[in-house]
Amino acid sequence: MKLLIDSANLADIERLFTIYPVTGVSCNPTILKKEQQNPYALLEEIRQIMPSEAQLHVQVISADSEAMVREAYELRARLGSDIIIKIPANTEGIKAIRALHRDDIKTTGTVVYTALQGYLAALAGATYIAPYVNRIDNIGFDGVRVVSDLQTIVTKNSFKTKILAASFKNSQQVLEMVKLGVDAATLSPEVLDGLLKFSVIDN
Ligand code: G3P
Repeated sequence: MKLLIDSANLADIERLFTIYPVTGVSCNPTILKKEQQNPYALLEEIRQIMPSEAQLHVQVISADSEAMVREAYELRARLGSDIIIKIPANTEGIKAIRALHRDDIKTTGTVVYTALQGYLAALAGATYIAPYVNRIDNIGFDGVRVVSDLQTIVTKNSFKTKILAASFKNSQQVLEMVKLGVDAATLSPEVLDGLLKFSVIDN
């Protein structure tokens, strides 16, 4: 399972790349807003401080599919054609994922709460699907079970789509993802640091 950093904080990103074997960064509008900077300028700075081969997943903020597609092209023009565009796996997002897939543009079907949402994003041609483990738990369902179901769906249907699990609040949730062998998980700096913040390790 690859690890990505779910953050837009430049200091955290730089620090975490020096410590952990992480392979990319993901962010969303909430994470970007927290930094209180111009989002595009911040994303350009993030792109510059990351290793060139590392993945950068950036989410669109538009609500309709045509605007999402336009925004995807704008993001690629500013940040490079190797970025991966995060698109909510809703009706407008599925339309946008299909359109971008036709143009060979990589996308992450995100804000996935159900296995069928993830299935539709994969069928639409998403490169990744991002189930929100902790948020699924928070509404009383089983986040790990949704990811396990998505693993089955991807394997049984021979989809090329990979799972980028997201939304974690503790190490146990991350451990379940490693045990499932999902392709990747994106962790906040707090959760990533928490994987080793175990006092007996340091004594
Ligand atoms: O990438 C999605 C992720 O940032 C959501 O995490 O902690 O807001 O549920 P969280």
